Amino acid sequence: MRSSSNTSRYGLRTDCWALTISAANTIIKTLPSKQFPPDFIFGAATAAYQIEGAWDADGRGPSIWDHLVHTDPEHITNKDNGDVAANSYYNYKRDIEMLKELGVSHYRFSISWTRILPFGRAHYINQRGIDHYNKFIDELLANDIVPFATIYHWDLPQILQEHGGWLNEEIVDWFADYARIVFENFGDRIKFWMTINEPWVHCYFSYGYAVYAPKIRSPGVGFYECGRNMLLANARAYHIYNDEFRSTQGGKVGIDLNSEYVYPASDSIEDIEAAKDYLAFQFGQYMHPIFSKSGNYPQRLIHRVAAASTAQGYNSSRLRSFDEDQINYIKGTADFLGLNHYFTKYVYRNSSVIGMFDVPSTDDDTFADSYMDESWPSTHAPWIREHGPGLHHLLVHIKDSYDNPEVYIAENGVSTTTGLNDPTRVSYYRSYLRAVLEALADGCNVHGYFAWSLMDNFEWNFGYSHRFGLYEVDFQDPNRTRTPRKSAFVYREIIRSRTIDYEYDPDPYAGGSSVLTSSLLVLAIVVVAGLFS
Ligand code: GAL
Repeated sequence: MRSSSNTSRYGLRTDCWALTISAANTIIKTLPSKQFPPDFIFGAATAAYQIEGAWDADGRGPSIWDHLVHTDPEHITNKDNGDVAANSYYNYKRDIEMLKELGVSHYRFSISWTRILPFGRAHYINQRGIDHYNKFIDELLANDIVPFATIYHWDLPQILQEHGGWLNEEIVDWFADYARIVFENFGDRIKFWMTINEPWVHCYFSYGYAVYAPKIRSPGVGFYECGRNMLLANARAYHIYNDEFRSTQGGKVGIDLNSEYVYPASDSIEDIEAAKDYLAFQFGQYMHPIFSKSGNYPQRLIHRVAAASTAQGYNSSRLRSFDEDQINYIKGTADFLGLNHYFTKYVYRNSSVIGMFDVPSTDDDTFADSYMDESWPSTHAPWIREHGPGLHHLLVHIKDSYDNPEVYIAENGVSTTTGLNDPTRVSYYRSYLRAVLEALADGCNVHGYFAWSLMDNFEWNFGYSHRFGLYEVDFQDPNRTRTPRKSAFVYREIIRSRTIDYEYDPDPYAGGSSVLTSSLLVLAIVVVAGLFS
């Protein structure tokens, strides 16, 4: 990572980066008159494998994550696994109570494919899995919490992986069958669906760089095949909903894409191009085929991978093309965008990136490297530094480049260690929610915000060493007791007041100091009362 001393070239203005970093840095810290609109949705988010536990209960089949944590435990920090996690399969009523405590109106959760279809395919439906989600959804609705469901959050049935998983185009059928079953069973009550969580992250880390389950290493071929199949699978599920369910159920189906925001590291053409490429390879790979007017992959992605493939002796591009029918079939297949955003980077391209990446790989195809500004507040997660203005810029970029689609921020948050006093998270949420207010003022079509996460959970390869929760979970306690952190009180107040009050400073767990403060207060009252008596 380069140091921030290299980032002297602020103030850049280009057609694509209309907002400047210097402008972002001048954002003031008070919001006297800005409020979230009355219909703006606040929620909290989780995902099935990360919280549910009960990994083999009631007929659930194994997913690629069960397989990884059981066959290769050393791969995960402290050999943690999701066998019990926060035990939400059993603790779901407490989870719903927490949502009520926060005052959120919506809950983003995911459905576990292998609870519904333990063998992956639709020939056998596990009624106990269906019963579980029925109970859970009914409980949400009884508490006036709107369900916002992700159909697939990375927990592919292991048996489907044994047939190639996301590298086998047949998965478009497998996913379609699964999606139809969840629409059929839950669509009378679930009106917000997201098909797939973070295709880019899943394909990059799981089928590109062998980091996440199922640990396939194919960064120059598998990565693109995975993404292509996800675009087709999303489109198929969307069309199924349109053709078979929309008229009776009247819900919406979106897709959940991750995106960083990027600033070119300098105003050189190379760095500006590198930043555009970086965004096109990550966000654009999914966004453009679905949300642009023309459809298909971004041209710069097509051209760069084709050129690199030719130079490497391939007889066709490693990024397989879509034909006209497929382009049209994919175009428009989301009623809204779920956006997961965590951090911003600077991107550059110069001679130092030569020889930096695997060949072939998507990183080599992009041919750009990135770093974060070290002046941005660091966090427990080395990959996250707080820079709220990046979210503002990203939302404006989405508005300007994709005709202002309906957006829900489906994930945003930061990890800490254990502990109830979490100033880093308080500051992070304020900064990013501030950015949402700024984006709303700029006319961005943002409808809602989901904090990641409602509670501490199994953070993939990091196990329980990264805590993302508004609620702390005691993983040593068989009951998996949940306790609100300071940030939960702050988030609750933002939701209640619909504004960000930087002065609000709840002190629920200050222990000695709060006792001290209240004793001093009592003393002062007694003294003052004495004076006037
Ligand atoms: C996202 C992912 C979540 C959660 C989060 C925090 O990429 O969708 O499941 O792990 O990151 O790192």
